[in-house]
Amino acid sequence: MSRFEGRVAVVTGAARGIGFGTARRLAEEGAAVAVVDLDESAAEEAAGRLPGTAIGVGCDVANASGVADAISRVVEELAGIHVLVNNAGVTRDNLLFKMTEDDWDVVMNVHLRGAFLMTRAVQQHFVEQRYGKVVNLSSVSALGNRGQANYAAAKMGVQGLTRTLGIELGPFGINVNAVAPGFIATEMTDATAARLKMDVEEFRQLNAEGNPVKRVGFPEDIAAAVAFLSSDEASYITGQTLYVDGGGKLG
Ligand code: NAI
Repeated sequence: MSRFEGRVAVVTGAARGIGFGTARRLAEEGAAVAVVDLDESAAEEAAGRLPGTAIGVGCDVANASGVADAISRVVEELAGIHVLVNNAGVTRDNLLFKMTEDDWDVVMNVHLRGAFLMTRAVQQHFVEQRYGKVVNLSSVSALGNRGQANYAAAKMGVQGLTRTLGIELGPFGINVNAVAPGFIATEMTDATAARLKMDVEEFRQLNAEGNPVKRVGFPEDIAAAVAFLSSDEASYITGQTLYVDGGGKLG
């Protein structure tokens, strides 16, 4: 398959986890990929593991000037930009009475301000060329999850951002959608296991048992959905949030 031949894709938070899985899928299908992450050497190392053309770019998505510089660099080094995946994310879980202002601000800044800044930076290129795909990472936690008031608010915020940008940018040939994963086996969920003082395998098993399809998700499951929504096959889909959770939110 080469759905992304001649396309340039930027994936934030792509040094590992879902972001890396998505970067790999887009690269396997022909895209030149910019791996954006906090630490430039980790981003470069991840880019080095991708097939085809890939670069690593160190950037904090919550920093406006850093984001503007990163996008300029991508456009210059990879000669264009067509796909943006806003995947960078963090958790700072706490029940409300223990949640600090910092817990709130960090999560809002990475997920919401980050997606806003990155999308604002790419839109001028997308509008000019009358073509672009944006896929934002939401979460099943958007529907509410104990200990995640900050994260749930940010991830539902991502859905509102997605719908609104779908309306604003649709006339310019730009699609904006979101993917809302359920439990995906990554370092993020491994860290949750550690916080709950549970063994990683035991935690995954517990989540698999409670899921209609009886397994946890993997970065490849999310990458497949992001690749579809980033492709021209999905050009009549915009403003949507696709839950990729093994039916977990139905339960
Ligand atoms: P992860 O923790 O394995 O990877 C996140 C990546 O984002 C890391 O490489 C990290 O360095 C990078 N990052 C964090 N802050 C950044 C910043 N300010 N600027 C640039 N990069 C930054 O997480 P995972 O599991 O791969 O999650 C990816 C996305 O999927 C996140 O948005 C997360 O909220 C979302 N998600 C994950 C789920 C899961 O079960 N793992 C479920 C639902 C949503």
